[in-house]
Amino acid sequence: MSGKTRKIAVMPGDLAGQEVTPEAVKVLQAAGLPYEFQEFEVGAGPLLRGEPAMSEQTFREAASADAILFGAIGDPRVPDVGYSAQVLLRIRFELDLYVNLRPARLFHDRLSPIRAESKRAVDLIVVRENTEGLYVGAGGRIRRGSKDEVAIQEDVNTYRGVTRILEHAFTLGRQKVCMVDKSNAMNHAGGLWQDCWASLQARHPDVETRHLYVDAAAMELVRDPSQFQVIVTGNLFGDILSDLTAALVGGMGVAPSANINPETGSGLFEPIHGSAPSIAGNGLVNPVGAIMTASMMVGHLGEVEQAQRIAGAVEAAVIAGECTRDLGGSLSTSEAGDAIVKRL
Ligand code: IPM
Ligand code: MN
Repeated sequence: MSGKTRKIAVMPGDLAGQEVTPEAVKVLQAAGLPYEFQEFEVGAGPLLRGEPAMSEQTFREAASADAILFGAIGDPRVPDVGYSAQVLLRIRFELDLYVNLRPARLFHDRLSPIRAESKRAVDLIVVRENTEGLYVGAGGRIRRGSKDEVAIQEDVNTYRGVTRILEHAFTLGRQKVCMVDKSNAMNHAGGLWQDCWASLQARHPDVETRHLYVDAAAMELVRDPSQFQVIVTGNLFGDILSDLTAALVGGMGVAPSANINPETGSGLFEPIHGSAPSIAGNGLVNPVGAIMTASMMVGHLGEVEQAQRIAGAVEAAVIAGECTRDLGGSLSTSEAGDAIVKRL
């Protein structure tokens, strides 16, 4: 261990985020990591008081931390769901966190929805482009509110952005990489992805490469997810497919993610689940996604053994049934966190 104290900006955000993030912090503290936590209020709380969902000062301080540990964003009391852009998307874009890593690994057979036993063993990672595509907010609405209204949402793809995410997929050291796009229908954007992919493939003759259109990828993921190791794709397809891959390993409650810039070292770490308004506030939400997310943060900060120790404790607790109801256990959110701490 380096022993250097790291500053972690903690942003629980809304609803379920408020319940799972303290569990992740609890595990990190119990593991004895040299982290100093600073908590920031973002999301519906400040917004409903008439303040920005994330203040400028919060953004600046969080940006200067060694990493950001994030919960979730979304609250039914806020009618404009677009405020996620002021928080989550702003951090992703302004810190240029262009790699969104979304691993999915099956801890136990009972968590798989796949009937054929031989196809259940999921251990894959979705590499999602995180700063471009349909998420940039380019476009507009004209003749708003009329029957002649037109809405345009631009899909922005740059040579630099596509190349760097495809390159990243090859740095993960896995044998098989599958690129997913929709170049048969979206010819301009898809054409750029295809061109960049062709040159990347040529540079990695040792890796088994494959291309799928996103509709076929969704179908193949359900039919036989064990065939995939790395799926690299654009922002929206990565968002959608990573909910699907989460469902293959136990549901939204278990899936972690890392938003990183490998060059600057900046990182935002968030479970892929949202704020779960329908179940939040009752100790029912699963802290596994948040704790696995914390493990990814620890690995990103250089403590690879500690990251594995935390992931191992999570896996052991889930296998033993010491978990929340969505995974077949009977524990509350904080009891599930405690069970993981005990297994560190
Ligand atoms: C996610 C979320 C976000 C996204 C939303 C809240 C904007 O679904 O992190 O997957 O689409 O990226
Ligand atoms: Mn999502």
